[in-house]
Amino acid sequence: MKKKIFFDSNIFIYAADKESLFHDESVEIIKDSIEIGFFTSDLCFLEFYQVITDGRKTPMPLSPGKALLYIQKLWSTPEIDVLEADILGAFEEKEHQNNLDRYNVTRFDIYDYLIAACLKKNQIRKIVTFNSKDFKKYPWLTVVDPRETYDYRNAGRSAAPSPPSSRLPASSYIPYGRQSIDEKDVAAVCSVLRSDWLTTGPKVAEFEQAVADYVGTKYAVAVSSGTAALHAAMYAIDIKPGDEVIVPPMTFAATANCVVYQGGTPIFADVDPGTLLLDPAKVEEKITKKTKAIIGVDYAGQPCDWDSLRDVADKHKLRLVADGCHALGAEYKGRKVGSITDMTIFSFHPVKHITTGEGGMVTTDDPELAGRIRLFRTHGITTNAHQREEQGSWFYEMVDLGYNYRITDFQCALGISQLRKLPKFLERRREIAARYDEAFAELSGINFLAVRSDVLHAYHLYVIRIDSNILGIDRTALFTKLRKKGIGVNVHYIPVHLHPFYRERFHADPGLCPVAEAAYEQIISLPMFPGMTDEDMENVIDVMQKIILQNQDK
Ligand SMILES: Cc1ncc(COP(=O)(O)O)c(C=O)c1O
Repeated sequence: MKKKIFFDSNIFIYAADKESLFHDESVEIIKDSIEIGFFTSDLCFLEFYQVITDGRKTPMPLSPGKALLYIQKLWSTPEIDVLEADILGAFEEKEHQNNLDRYNVTRFDIYDYLIAACLKKNQIRKIVTFNSKDFKKYPWLTVVDPRETYDYRNAGRSAAPSPPSSRLPASSYIPYGRQSIDEKDVAAVCSVLRSDWLTTGPKVAEFEQAVADYVGTKYAVAVSSGTAALHAAMYAIDIKPGDEVIVPPMTFAATANCVVYQGGTPIFADVDPGTLLLDPAKVEEKITKKTKAIIGVDYAGQPCDWDSLRDVADKHKLRLVADGCHALGAEYKGRKVGSITDMTIFSFHPVKHITTGEGGMVTTDDPELAGRIRLFRTHGITTNAHQREEQGSWFYEMVDLGYNYRITDFQCALGISQLRKLPKFLERRREIAARYDEAFAELSGINFLAVRSDVLHAYHLYVIRIDSNILGIDRTALFTKLRKKGIGVNVHYIPVHLHPFYRERFHADPGLCPVAEAAYEQIISLPMFPGMTDEDMENVIDVMQKIILQNQDK
């Protein structure tokens, strides 16, 4: 007898639609499953289901012609059993009416309920669907989401590095970070693609307002990347040749590069040995007459000691800027990162808390800084309504040298959709961190970064420090072993001043920031992203434990 597994018809729709984002995965799933016997629904209520599917559940709308082809293909595929239950008729029954209340079925998921009810009637207990969240509430079903169990995460769209070349099956590779995109995100982007606006339009303003509201600032200006946001921030505070800006070495190069773009000089001040965050005392030591600003980096998702940095900045009349690219959703003394400093920079790169593909934002309460950033992101061009009236509607003026750092409307539609899920994403990141904390607390030789008691960590990264004397294995060897086992660990960061560019141009040699340099030898970032399953998490822990125990036995 065939095992009864039900496939949500979307999987077939995606398989039939070459342009679908899920096409390849769906074809693979069907191929893999052909032997076990499976069912699909939808033909019993095909007419409206297909309409609903059209544009709602596929990234590209299925044209009527394509839909017909798909239906014919489905009918003529002998391996597919089509479930033909009269479930619409069944709707008159009291049981269903009660269920609608019990499972809080709304008009948006009524079709999913229809499927679930149909399966129950046909005694099918297992469903494979991309829409697992809407089916999990029905207790009679075991729900399998290919994105959680199948080789989905490495389907070529990940921002994380691809698996090492050791011919591991891609499905067993867990990257250190990756985006979480669902159908709502896809639909949000598609609806903008079908509208009149592609580049700067209403979604840019809406996304800016949503981020400003979220972090609690008056202004937010969206740009094409976190790096562009940093550059714009340095322009806004008028960094120019001869100016110095103090930055930490334990960060991505862009934090220092933005100073160089403006002709300024980044001055590296060392980090605190416990948190690896910019050390306010070290900052003070580096201040000279040329110092104009301090950029603190909320490394890994933990806010800096902003009060102490503010004291130093105020004492020397410096601007204070936060590189919050790791810290959307983090809090410092109850205040959200984004609202603490003169300006905060966010990145929406795919490994960050929310993504727009590429994208960035500056948040601030200062209208003048926000205005300068807006100018900078569009070539330094102003269009003054009064002037336009006087001179004709073509009139604009370029008042300063700016760039094209604009973000598109469809990216911002994605950002708005992602922002709605940020609380859930943060919750999952914190859950993963808590589980790692618990599991590694027992392994001697693994040390954690200190977490201050007055912060809420956003865990962009989960960084541990390896004590090679105790473990008998150094960071690099552990890194290699983990990668070989399919755990996509990474190292954040090579201290920026040690990069050849900084050594040559700014004579920033080893020894300049000994705390960061020593930490660099020991740190390793473990996989951390909201789409990680419990199984992924336990797999990381298990592999780590095995490598370490094996080594201790030697
Ligand atoms: C601390 C930090 N600053 C700046 C950036 C640059 O952001 P983006 O990649 O969006 O340009 C990153 C991105 O990795 C980052 O981690």
